[in-house]
Amino acid sequence: MKILVTGGAGFIGSNFIRMYLDRHPDDVVVNLDKLTYAGNLENLRDVEGDARYSFVKGDICDREAVDGVMPGCDAVVNFAAETHVDRSIGDPEGFLRTDIFGVHVLLESAREHGVGRFVQISTDEVYGPALGDPFPEDAPLNPRNPYSASKAGGEYLARSYFLTYGYPVIVTRGANNIGPNQYPEKALPLFTTNAIEGEPLPLYGSGEQERDYMHVLDHCAGVDLLLEKGEPGEIYNIGAGNHMRNIDMARFILRELGKSEDLIVHVRDREGHDFRYAIDSSKLRALGWSPEFDAEGAVRDAIRWYVANPAWWMPLKSGEYRDYYERMYRERLEEAGASG
Ligand code: NAD
Ligand code: TYD
Repeated sequence: MKILVTGGAGFIGSNFIRMYLDRHPDDVVVNLDKLTYAGNLENLRDVEGDARYSFVKGDICDREAVDGVMPGCDAVVNFAAETHVDRSIGDPEGFLRTDIFGVHVLLESAREHGVGRFVQISTDEVYGPALGDPFPEDAPLNPRNPYSASKAGGEYLARSYFLTYGYPVIVTRGANNIGPNQYPEKALPLFTTNAIEGEPLPLYGSGEQERDYMHVLDHCAGVDLLLEKGEPGEIYNIGAGNHMRNIDMARFILRELGKSEDLIVHVRDREGHDFRYAIDSSKLRALGWSPEFDAEGAVRDAIRWYVANPAWWMPLKSGEYRDYYERMYRERLEEAGASG
């Protein structure tokens, strides 16, 4: 098999490529990535010299670039996306472009080149807040911010290619991932690296919001299984059921690092903040998947990675990130009486 992985220089894509090469010694992987602020070739330094792996810098919205890598591919796994909810609230346009239009370009090219499988990586955020039972795949969608609305658009479009053209698309809806190589704008790496540096942990609102914090390797194993065994046209939730409130995660991180809880600063809440995500993954479990990490195991493993790899995240926390951090948090921290 030759597979095209898009967005493979990002957090989940890079973990997926490493796992895929390891599990499928006879297969070949092409990584197409635009290298936005979130794309980082350091994430794949260890596989760079592998003859089965190649990297192409390119935008999934650019038909020519996409057509350049599609010939001969047996499958596409589309991880490429703008992914941070807070950024989508401030500046949604890039989300619509990559997360919807980019999916369109990939689908057109893949269908035209007769690529036999297309996995669209979506998110549990398309369901919106889950205040009752975990959502099964046929629950109605209720995306409530520009990120989740764009992801919903992308997956609807992907599914329409199955319903309209019989094109073999599979959609996955993953829960919140944590683990190695996650850009430090997301809650876990932001809290952990701030704690290591003795900086405040900016907790939105009450901190009682809850997420299903799945280890990235469990997510990647689910995607790998679906690439092989997923039924075309079907949607699969991928969630470990590792529910944790944000405040409990912040406290856990500080305890693990031997830091004071005084570092937690309750700041102004995110606009339209979804209170809780919860999905039912029994459809995927029936195919033989189960997560290896429970909530504390996943969080602990991720914390340890950031402790062991300051050379990865310290350079990222300058430049673009610094400007972003100032924009996002300076005022919030000052309002809350912390300087940051
Ligand atoms: P990330 O932000 O770490 O990485 C995204 C990658 O996509 C980067 O390497 C970036 O350079 C690349 N990219 C962005 N726009 C592109 C474009 N136009 N063309 C080519 N490449 C482009 O994201 P992530 O956390 O690894 O998420 C990967 C996928 O998984 C996304 O589709 C996301 O919606 C989905 N997902 C993420 C989570 C999570 O918790 N992080 C959970 C469920 C689903
Ligand atoms: P995040 O990692 O951005 O993922 P998502 O919003 O896509 O679920 O945020 C996870 C949770 O942590 C979410 O409830 C928002 C909260 N959060 C904070 O409290 N403070 C922060 O600085 C960030 C980035 C997130």
